[in-house]
Amino acid sequence: MRFLVTGAAGFIGSNLVRMLLRQYPESQVLSYDLLTYAGSLANLADVQDETRHEFVKGDIGDGALLSEILARFQPNVIFHLAAETHVDRSIQSSDPFVEANVVGHTRMLETVYLYFKKLYEKDQQRFKFIHVSTDEVFGSLRLSDAAFDESTAYNPLSPYAASKAAGDHMVRAWGNTYGLPTVNINCSNNYGPYQFPEKLIPFMIMRALGGESLPVYGDGKNVRDWLYVEDHCAALIAASEKGKIGETYCVGGESERSNLQVVEMVCNALDEVKPRVEGRTYKEQVEFVADRPGHDFRYAINCSKAKADLEWMPVTSFEEGLKHTLAWYLHNVQWLDDIRSDEYRQWISAHYKVKGSV
Ligand code: NAD
Ligand code: TYD
Repeated sequence: MRFLVTGAAGFIGSNLVRMLLRQYPESQVLSYDLLTYAGSLANLADVQDETRHEFVKGDIGDGALLSEILARFQPNVIFHLAAETHVDRSIQSSDPFVEANVVGHTRMLETVYLYFKKLYEKDQQRFKFIHVSTDEVFGSLRLSDAAFDESTAYNPLSPYAASKAAGDHMVRAWGNTYGLPTVNINCSNNYGPYQFPEKLIPFMIMRALGGESLPVYGDGKNVRDWLYVEDHCAALIAASEKGKIGETYCVGGESERSNLQVVEMVCNALDEVKPRVEGRTYKEQVEFVADRPGHDFRYAINCSKAKADLEWMPVTSFEEGLKHTLAWYLHNVQWLDDIRSDEYRQWISAHYKVKGSV
């Protein structure tokens, strides 16, 4: 097998690359990534000497470079994860989101289609393009609503969600119009090792360890469905093996928690494994700050179809996944420091100043 992974130097991509190399000992993996503020070769450091793996720095929208890479590497499966991914940044400026998640993404579909068209029929038959999207394209649920599934109507409510929804529609259009063999995955909030410390869980771990405030947006009652990253990667691999062409699969962790519950769990776990020197609880660092504009209340996924068709299910409980995640961050405090560029540090400090917490 020859796998090409875009966004491979990011959080989910780097976990997927490791899993592919482990699960397919005969495979070759090409990691393609622009190395934006969220991507880093440090995330792939443990596979850099692996002869079955190579890294290419490039933009998904760079048709010339990507077609050269495709022609040379000849992948049978492309996992497309590259994107701008942080909702708060999309609220501040939607431009990079439209550029990467809509324009670059669509150029990539064109480039991949040109490559696909030139393949021999037998290679076309085993080729798959797996697109990684989000449950945020479906909008926001109330507590009384049924979870999202594949029949839920699109209703994206943030610039990030709207850009990903556009990306999903383009993927379907390329499948329907040109016959590109695509599979779309809409998954819930991931967490685990190597997640950039702008997202809730690693952000709170980092701030707690640094003795800083833990800014909870609004009243902390918003709900997310937490999916351990390795369970997500297993679903992506299952989709590449068993996913039906043209189908969408909703993938979730069956672990709904309010944001405040998550932050308190992080604090309780840290109180046990890394107590504060003065012996007080990390929960004292929690601070309620201004809510995110248009903050989606609840996301939840019904993953029955993925379970039935992909013979997959989430196997990591939130408690267990959080324990692994915390242990990883505690062993990788240097990574946590190195991964944040000066530009990013400035962004985050300006962002939380506006929200009322520094
Ligand atoms: P991430 O921000 O950690 O990584 C994204 C990677 O994409 C980075 O390495 C970045 O350098 C790269 N990238 C960005 N623009 C690029 C471009 N134009 N060309 C090439 N590379 C580019 O994100 P993640 O959390 O690993 O998310 C991966 C995918 O999964 C995204 O498509 C995201 O929308 C989707 N997703 C993520 C979550 C989650 O909870 N993290 C949930 C649902 C869906
Ligand atoms: P995030 O990790 O940004 O993911 P998403 O917005 O894509 O779901 O945020 C998860 C939840 O945590 C979301 O409801 C916003 C909230 N949140 C906070 O309360 N404080 C924070 O500092 C961050 C980053 C997020």
